[in-house]
Parts: sequence; C-alpha cells; structure tokens
Amino acid sequence: VSAEEKAMPQFSAGRLAEIETLVKRYPHARSALLPVLHMAQQDFGYLSMEVQQLVADTLGLRLMAVREVVTFYTMFREQPCGKYLMEFCTNPGCMLNGAYDVLRHVCDRLGIEVGSTTPDGMFTVTEVECAGACGGAPVVQINGVYHEKVDAEHMDRVIDEAAGGGGKA
Ligand code: FES
Repeated sequence: VSAEEKAMPQFSAGRLAEIETLVKRYPHARSALLPVLHMAQQDFGYLSMEVQQLVADTLGLRLMAVREVVTFYTMFREQPCGKYLMEFCTNPGCMLNGAYDVLRHVCDRLGIEVGSTTPDGMFTVTEVECAGACGGAPVVQINGVYHEKVDAEHMDRVIDEAAGGGGKA
C-alpha cells in the first residue's frame, strides 16, 4: 500500500457490512446515497472531497452525483467543524418561533456567518431541516443534544459555559 493510499479514508469493515445491507434494500445503489453520506459524516466528521470519492466508489456512482447531493443539503458539511456544533432548525415551526433571531444573535456574538466555524475551532453554526422536535421550537442541537425553546439568553449561557464559565467566547 502506497503512502497516498494509506492517507485515503476508508470505511471500517463493520460500516461496509452495514452499507451492503442497506444497498440490498433498494433497487439502485444510488437510493442509499443519503444514509451513506450520513454514515460517512458520522465516521469522518465532515465530507472532504476524499470522503465523497470514497462514498462514490463504495456505491459505484460518479463523484458528481455525490457532490450534487452534498452541496444541496445543508446538513452535510464539507469542512471540519468546531468542538461545539450548533445546528439550528430553521424550518417553519422553529422559524415562526424566533429561530432566526436566536441564530442571528449567536452568529453576531461569535462573529461568524451561518455555516462557518470560529477561528479558535470552538464553535460551528449551521442551519438544518426540521429536527423532529417541533413542539419544542425553536430547537438547536448542540453536539447532537436537543436544546428546546431556546432564546438568546440560553445560547449565551451555553457559549459562556463552553468557553470556560463566563469567559468571553
Ligand atoms: S420545525 Fe424545527 S424541529 Fe420541526
């Protein structure tokens, strides 16, 4: 194995078996693309071009077919994310309950735009589709944990705690 091959991301044997089972459920491997991209993002943290190529090769698709999907959906990341990933649901249920106000507040406080990471690598802020917890709107998932009925004060507390208890984030 060359050094270059070594550096290429690979799915674990367990993951490959999981993908194989999944693909068998569909008439076309392409139908498994979304779940496989989720798995890849979970395994590698984000979908680098190498990881997208791996997904394409694994499913027998062209890289372009993978890229079309990755760039269309906001839940897929092409860049590494911060230690704290804040995923804001901005679908109607959350939007009507002030999601954008809270999102704007957080972005202004951190000095970043949606979809980016603070220079210190601490916080990434993204917008996602309905998190399936509309009763708790507006909803933010922080490293996969649901925070419901969030407001600016709640997010300030989260940021303060993450930054070391009252420290400036
Ligand atoms: S609309 Fe935000 S959780 Fe459903």
